[in-house]
Amino acid sequence: MSRGLKIVTIGGGSSYTPELIEGFINYYSELPVREIWLVDIEAGKQKLEIVGNLARRMIEKAGLPIEIHLTLDRKKALEGADYVTTQLRVGQLAARALDEKIPLKHGVIGQETNGPGGLFKAFRTIPVILEIAREMEKVCPDAWLINFTNPAGMVTEAVLRHTSIKVIGLCNVPIGMERGVADLMKVDPSRVRIDFAGLNHMVYGLDVFVDGVSVKDQVIERITDPEKAITMKNIHAMGWEPEFLRALNLFPCPYHNYYYKTGDVLAQELKDAEKGETRAEVVQRLEEGLFELYQNEELATKPPQLEERGGAYYSEAAVRLIYSIYTDKRDIQAVNTINHGAIEGIPYGSAVEVSCVITKDGPKPINVGKLPIAVRGLIQQIKSFERVAIDAAISGDYDNALLAMTINPLVPSDRVAKLILDEMLEAHKSFLPQFFDKKEESL
Ligand code: G6P
Repeated sequence: MSRGLKIVTIGGGSSYTPELIEGFINYYSELPVREIWLVDIEAGKQKLEIVGNLARRMIEKAGLPIEIHLTLDRKKALEGADYVTTQLRVGQLAARALDEKIPLKHGVIGQETNGPGGLFKAFRTIPVILEIAREMEKVCPDAWLINFTNPAGMVTEAVLRHTSIKVIGLCNVPIGMERGVADLMKVDPSRVRIDFAGLNHMVYGLDVFVDGVSVKDQVIERITDPEKAITMKNIHAMGWEPEFLRALNLFPCPYHNYYYKTGDVLAQELKDAEKGETRAEVVQRLEEGLFELYQNEELATKPPQLEERGGAYYSEAAVRLIYSIYTDKRDIQAVNTINHGAIEGIPYGSAVEVSCVITKDGPKPINVGKLPIAVRGLIQQIKSFERVAIDAAISGDYDNALLAMTINPLVPSDRVAKLILDEMLEAHKSFLPQFFDKKEESL
């Protein structure tokens, strides 16, 4: 493709954008990007300008002929796109703060992708992403949609089941776990491979290799030491019980803290909330600092402060994926894609996060078969939750929403589920037209 690629990033005003731009700069010799369109909404206009100008300075400094376009006109941006990335946050950080704080009032974990917070993020986000995918069907039907928007697993499944767009859900957890192992084992990350299986933010390393030799037992042994826990900036590593970890005999992801250490994480979240340090509050402050830095005309690289965000290696994951599709590289990467029978016991058409061979036709999941019995049930339960949640997000059906909230493993009862549901529906009302603006039923 000699004309060069058109990349469109929706939610382009995000503070993460310099990360992505850095990725495209680093890969330019192999991935000929001609234009990057950063798209945002009216409310994000100022951030888009600031980030866009930094992106232009970065490209100029790198001396590359990549055009940066800034626009609020999504449809125009999407026309003829080759790859579309989505990194938007409906309701911005203020909505995230509510997702984290309301469940806490009811003694339930408040987290943006797990439990009630994840459910409401799905309710706000899925209709918007479906609207984007439908627009893509019209103006760039062959483009790939690389979705980062959380909850990435549910969003990916909604697009898979309800549109004809080729979608891949991407998360930095797998790449972060591989990097973590590389640090632990003191080897270059290129020598590490993990066989991943599960769902987004619910993924396990079934085996871990360095140069093709399994080091799973050593990794498990090392991460029994709380000092060596592999985590991300947005998750407190609480330290695993060594006997539990050995018995599990799998490499858990940082988000498993919410499921296997629920009480400890809840206690920590309550302490953080008292100090005004919920993750949304911390990120709000980080963002303010970042945007101040981004305005500095002298700045023409990604500032190291961005690494305080949870999305480390995000650009690497995105650009590596696009590169492997573009070149039909057939390397192995863990992404969210259609199961197609790779994981037994998960619906054929559902999204799973699994190691895949990345080809020009997209990811081909590597067969997993049956998951170990100790984790199979939890993964199936989360998938049931996701399916019911997606249906509720699209239909705006209250009963389904209550069903989803109640079957989530982090919610203790139907009564608490209803309390949280009602309070969160009210709090997020302006972003949930599907629940509130129901058309009068015709007589
Ligand atoms: C991790 C997750 C992402 C999430 C991010 C939040 O990287 O994998 O899905 O968006 O953390 O980071 P933040 O800095 O916003 O708390």
